[in-house]
Amino acid sequence: MPSVPVFSAGHVYGALDPGDAVEVVRTAFVEHTRENWQMPSKLYVSSPPDGDFRAMPASGAGYALLKWVSSFPNNPARALPTVTGVVLLSDAATGQLLAILDAGAVTALRTGAAAVLAAEVLARPTLGPAAVVGCGVNGRAVAATFLAREREVLLWDARPNQAQLVAGELGEGTGVAADLADALAADIVATVTPGREVIFHDGTLHAGQHVSLMGADGPGKAEIAVEEVLRARVFCDEWEQASHNGDIAAAVADGRLTRDRVAELGPILAGEESGRADEHEITVFDSTGLAVQDLAVTIAVYGSFRANPGAEPFVGMNEVDLG
Ligand SMILES: NC(=O)c1ccc[n+]([C@@H]2O[C@H](COP(=O)([O-])OP(=O)(O)OC[C@H]3O[C@@H](n4cnc5c(N)ncnc54)[C@H](O)[C@@H]3O)[C@@H](O)[C@H]2O)c1
Repeated sequence: MPSVPVFSAGHVYGALDPGDAVEVVRTAFVEHTRENWQMPSKLYVSSPPDGDFRAMPASGAGYALLKWVSSFPNNPARALPTVTGVVLLSDAATGQLLAILDAGAVTALRTGAAAVLAAEVLARPTLGPAAVVGCGVNGRAVAATFLAREREVLLWDARPNQAQLVAGELGEGTGVAADLADALAADIVATVTPGREVIFHDGTLHAGQHVSLMGADGPGKAEIAVEEVLRARVFCDEWEQASHNGDIAAAVADGRLTRDRVAELGPILAGEESGRADEHEITVFDSTGLAVQDLAVTIAVYGSFRANPGAEPFVGMNEVDLG
């Protein structure tokens, strides 16, 4: 077997601009909706009390992918990242392994892309900033993606100085909210917290608001109260995943939210279903994260490498010989 390139986080981030990631992730949602790309169910391997692992397969566009990734919300206190793992990319025609990539970077790029894509499609027209609540690895990626799509951001984090730190890194177009209420008052909000505490309590959402709920992507997590979910027009990335593991799971479990009241993002992007009805509607997008999003980002990164392996983002890249 020939040697296989290994993409570190730096190589992944260097190969794909966050603004371009929005477009490749749009393709993923549409191709999955049209059943051109396949995505067997995500498998959770719980590791109580600290977190869980996920095995996430997908195939499409001549490739197959497996992401083995963790979510360990207490890790920042141990100076370790919450999300880590690897992505394996294979050739779907020959079965040969083509690349190994850092899963944290792939995840961050595609999570930022999904949050922003949902906001662009579902929010009412507004030039105002998007608030990002939770400014860890994936919240930072969401903020960077809004900025790449030329929308200013307002940051808030429960950790003292974290929002200021990220604002300093991201630079122009980035502000820090005065407090949580200030952030939640924005017309567009993305929440990217560990999902252990509700951010949107009863009565917090306002008419016309759009919220991309990114943090609660596993069993028992929620960033929004059930009553608030029920006040909103609800969208998700995939019903099967979100109804069991996302913000809407509690409302579904007690029978108050049914399948016919929840739309998936893919059919809206494919032009098969309609999104926001009017400027007063509240829209919430519940993201649990899809392997087809990872596939789209991974194909883009690998394609960039294949087109120009000597390009600056790939300097110093390692290869492993599995033969
Ligand atoms: N939907 C998806 O596709 C997707 C993708 C990746 C990660 N996630 C989930 O997103 C969450 C965050 O992941 P991460 O890698 O960014 O974690 P992280 O630990 O790097 O960041 C979490 C941030 O949230 C902050 N925070 C905690 N509680 C808060 C609160 N009540 N209000 C405001 N800020 C708060 C923390 O201080 C920290 O900065 C995890 O639950 C992870 O599983 C979802």
